[in-house]
Formats: sequence, structure tokens, C-alpha cells
Amino acid sequence: MSCSLCDDTGWKAVEIDGARRVDRCDCWRDALTARLLEGARVPPRYRRCDLDSFVIYPNEKLVAAVKVARRFAEEFPAAARGLCLIGPPGIGKTHLAVAVLRQVILTRGARGLFYDTRDLLRVIRSTYNPLVRTAEMDILRPVMEADLLVLDDLGSEKTSEWVEETMNLIVNTRYNERRHTIFTSNYEDTPDDSDPECLKARIGFRIHSRLHEMCEFLEFDGADYRHLPPNGGVDDLMAMWKVKPSRRTLPARSKGPVRAQLRQPEGRGRELGWSGGKAGS
Ligand SMILES: Nc1ncnc2c1ncn2[C@@H]1O[C@H](COP(=O)(O)OP(=O)(O)OP(=O)(O)O)[C@@H](O)[C@H]1O
Ligand SMILES: [Mg+2]
Ligand SMILES: [Zn+2]
Repeated sequence: MSCSLCDDTGWKAVEIDGARRVDRCDCWRDALTARLLEGARVPPRYRRCDLDSFVIYPNEKLVAAVKVARRFAEEFPAAARGLCLIGPPGIGKTHLAVAVLRQVILTRGARGLFYDTRDLLRVIRSTYNPLVRTAEMDILRPVMEADLLVLDDLGSEKTSEWVEETMNLIVNTRYNERRHTIFTSNYEDTPDDSDPECLKARIGFRIHSRLHEMCEFLEFDGADYRHLPPNGGVDDLMAMWKVKPSRRTLPARSKGPVRAQLRQPEGRGRELGWSGGKAGS
């Protein structure tokens, strides 16, 4: 299809201070952005996520998280630190991470990349060959070099020495190169190290330590959006958030029926300490 501005050359004539110059045509920029968006590997479900479509309701921590995410996207690449979004399922962590990723691709032409942590490790493992590491590096290089990487569902991977070593390589490389990363996780960043379900225990103390320097931690809870009725709105979200039992009412690390109720209906099988009670309630 021919472009009326540049006749498909990718360059258009412009006038700057009275002088005729050439500049990249809009069609060239649009094509580049489309390629970058395509290359970012955002799952189809999240391809339309943006910050403006993220519904907020009077939930202080959630509102604050959206504000910080927005500021990060506006300041990118000058933002001081990446983001670590932590909280229970369905509150919009992946939505927010993708919204920021898409925004920096669209407005800054950034090379963005999305990976679910378990998927990434599975892909790397499938290419793993201790003698020839080229295939593995083909996957790892863009992950380590992306201007903005979203690593979704951190801590959900089954830990092993190989997993920790691989995650260390990725996080450490990005840390050393000062590249921005957005992590999401269901695992709380509790100070209690002995808790096997805390973030530090899930990802290892070395990555955990780097994460704190690389990222602003945004922990929030809220209504599980996946349970919102089709025509539901802000009032429903508020109501759903309020009826959730308070965290404090849960027996710690109990394997009993209360925790069983917290399992995801999708059968993702994650047993979480979260119950999403209103902060401070
Ligand atoms: N505040 C919101 N406004 C609009 N859509 C939302 C909001 N919160 C969540 N969603 C939508 O609900 C669905 C679930 O959200 P999302 O996947 O981001 O949750 P999550 O916190 O990442 O959950 P999990 O921990 O299970 O990965 C998505 O389709 C997302 O777009
Ligand atoms: Mg998610
Ligand atoms: Zn053109």
C-alpha cells in the first residue's frame, strides 16, 4: 500500500527553519512501532491493556501503584528504578506491567519484552545444551538486552539450582547494565525469612537483594477482577474487596479448608497466603 506522504520511501520532506530537509515518515515510525509491539511477546489477552483502561476505585495502595506506574512510563528511560508489583491474583498486576510496557514502546520506541517467568525458563531449558550454548543465548540475549523487560509471576517457578543460576544470570546482567525491569509476583515480601512462601525464599536471597535496588516495590491488594460480573463497576469492585476476609483471620500457613478456598478457580494450584483484606483492616 503506497503512502501519500513518502511514496513508500520511508522519508518525507519537511521544512525546518525555512530550510527543506527530509525526515522519517509517519508510516515508517508506525511500522517500526508495530514491529516492536509484535516483538514484545505480550500474550493476546493483554494486548489491549493500557493505563487509561485500568479501572481504579478507592483503594489507596492500588491507586498509588497506578500513579507510580504512570510516572515510570512517563519518565522512561530516565526513571530511577523499575517496578515490582506484588499482590494476590486478579488485581491487575500483569495488566499494569503490560500497560507500562506498551506505553514505552509506543511513546519511546523502546525495545520491550514480556515473559512469564515459568515460560521463559521452559524455553531456555528446551534449548539447553551444556556444550553448545548458542541456542540458549539466542533466547537469553534479548531478555538481558531489552530496554524494558517484564518478568511476570516471579517466584512461581519450581526452584532448583539451575533455575536459580539462570535467574541470577538474567537479573544480575540487567542489574549491572542498569536496564529497567518490571516484575510481578504473588509472593509477599515479608521480613520473616523462615517463611517458605515469602518472596525471598522463593527467588533466593541474591536476586531478592538486587530486586530491592533495581525496583520500587508496590504491594497492594484488591478485588479479583476475574470475578467481576460482566456489567460490574467500581461499586462491585469495592464490595468484592470489602467482603474478602482479613488476612489476620487466617491461620498462618494452614493447610486447612480456609486456605483451600483461596486456590484459584482456574486450577493454577497456587496456595497463597493472600486473602486480600483491606489494608490495615
Ligand atoms: N483495575 C482493573 N481495570 C481493568 N481491568 C483489570 C483491572 N484489574 C484487572 N483487570 C483485568 O482482569 C484480568 C486479570 O488481571 P491480571 O491478569 O492483571 O491480574 P494479576 O494481578 O496479574 O493476577 P495473577 O496474580 O493471577 O497473575 C485481566 O484481564 C486484566 O486486564
Ligand atoms: Mg499476572
Ligand atoms: Zn510514508
